[in-house]
Amino acid sequence: MIDLTSKTALITGSGRGIGKEIAVKLAAAGANVAISDIDLETAKATAAEIAGAYKIKTIAVAADASKAADVEKMFADTLEAFGGKLDILINNAGITRDGLLMRMKEEDWDLVLNINLKSAFLCCKEATRTMMKARSGKIINIASVVGLMGNAGQVNYSASKAGMIGLTKTLAREFASRSINVNAIAPGFIKTAMTDKLTDAEKEKLASGIPMAKLGEPVDVANAALFLSSALSDYITGQVITVDGGLVM
Ligand SMILES: NC(=O)c1ccc[n+]([C@@H]2O[C@H](COP(=O)([O-])OP(=O)(O)OC[C@H]3O[C@@H](n4cnc5c(N)ncnc54)[C@H](O)[C@@H]3O)[C@@H](O)[C@H]2O)c1
Repeated sequence: MIDLTSKTALITGSGRGIGKEIAVKLAAAGANVAISDIDLETAKATAAEIAGAYKIKTIAVAADASKAADVEKMFADTLEAFGGKLDILINNAGITRDGLLMRMKEEDWDLVLNINLKSAFLCCKEATRTMMKARSGKIINIASVVGLMGNAGQVNYSASKAGMIGLTKTLAREFASRSINVNAIAPGFIKTAMTDKLTDAEKEKLASGIPMAKLGEPVDVANAALFLSSALSDYITGQVITVDGGLVM
């Protein structure tokens, strides 16, 4: 069994979806969790739900993870609540603004790159300050299979996720000697609000291209995040774990 008792974790975009499921898994393993989201109401609700279910400490923090001032305050609040200690950072906040290149607006490119990629840069910068002093830490970036294989209509999103994979590998090299592991998870198509936008016909078409012939659940991604957050992954860094029913292999 994975035991994260006395560990502290900050998960961006964890008011709902995959981020929430990761927070639940880490809390169930004993970690104290900071639930951060641009939407304070969902963050508060998730923090309260987790606090009611597990004997751990949890806080809700409102932050736009793509804004440096918000990120600074989010880390200050988290460190204050958790006695100056941060063991695990999960960069999960992400959005889509899909469209073919010819029709994509500059603002949709900028928004997706800022929220999906710049956020990880800002959060890693803050987190590694504390982790460097502790000479240990786990950073997990939630990328996507489309960052590996591309996807028509998602030039902004796939570029942001490919960028996240590059950031992961570079930071893994920069921090390996400090025992800070930096890895990425590339989920395939997972059932959340993000994929709810698809029609049933689109979902069926997607599933037919997946060897396991179905979309994944948030818990499938959370299980990989739990492993990467734990000592079981101590000798793993700079890797991208696909959680996709065999879509990319
Ligand atoms: N669902 C999928 O199929 C899938 C596949 C691959 C990767 N992912 C990635 O997984 C992550 C979570 O996605 P999800 O499916 O749970 O989506 P979701 O839309 O259900 O949840 C995303 C969360 O991020 C929050 N958020 C949005 N912008 C933010 C910002 N600027 N700062 C802080 N929080 C913000 C939202 O309020 C929401 O709570 C994303 O990075 C997404 O790209 C999802």
